[in-house]
Amino acid sequence: MRFEALSVFPEVFDAYLGASIMGRAQRAGIFSFEAHDLRDWTHDRHRTVDDAPFGGGQGMLMKPAPIFEALDELSAEGLRPRVVFFSPCGERFDQRVAERLSTEERILFVCGRYEGIDERVYTLADDVLSIGDYVLTGGELAALVVIDAVVRLLPGALGDELSAVDESFSSAGLLEYAQYTRPASYRGLDVPEVLLSGDHARIARWRRQNAVERTALWRPDLLDGAELSDEERELAQR
Ligand code: ADE
Repeated sequence: MRFEALSVFPEVFDAYLGASIMGRAQRAGIFSFEAHDLRDWTHDRHRTVDDAPFGGGQGMLMKPAPIFEALDELSAEGLRPRVVFFSPCGERFDQRVAERLSTEERILFVCGRYEGIDERVYTLADDVLSIGDYVLTGGELAALVVIDAVVRLLPGALGDELSAVDESFSSAGLLEYAQYTRPASYRGLDVPEVLLSGDHARIARWRRQNAVERTALWRPDLLDGAELSDEERELAQR
């Protein structure tokens, strides 16, 4: 899978995407990443990408021309990319959207800065995404969030193929159950006895029940969409 970003800070992506699981997946050829400097599509001496808003108001807006020209040129090279913009006004990014994007072959993220982007630029978007109800100074962090969530769904990206399945927001729609490692007792805090029992059926039941309880406690909004037995629904209500 091929990711690209169009940004006035193309250098901010490399450290994150070169480290840990992202770095390994990139070196293994599971995905590639290239950042393009939006200023390469300006024509003035100062390489200007922003201008004042019509109608007045504070701050500067990103001009349409550099983004239109960049997308004309980049889209003409090879397979047409899926073009993704970021805005707090966009569709909320979640695991379903990550799954949808993981089937694409080429995604180009347009990372806005300043107070916003000239509205006409959004006519170029296949998706406009928001990573949450807060305002960031630019789309670069949002692009990294989306790339991370999508890459870990690609076959081979996580060493253990199972680990992307049995986790929060996977198909059962529940938060993930609590997990523990050695030591079994630490500063008076004990690992639930059932996990030390070696009884796999009991452990599976405990994990399922724990997932239901945690979801009811922390994210009750998820329960409506979760697949629960009558008994589990009752447990969640308590
Ligand atoms: N740009 C600024 N804020 C954002 C947000 N919350 N999500 C995505 N892009 C953004």
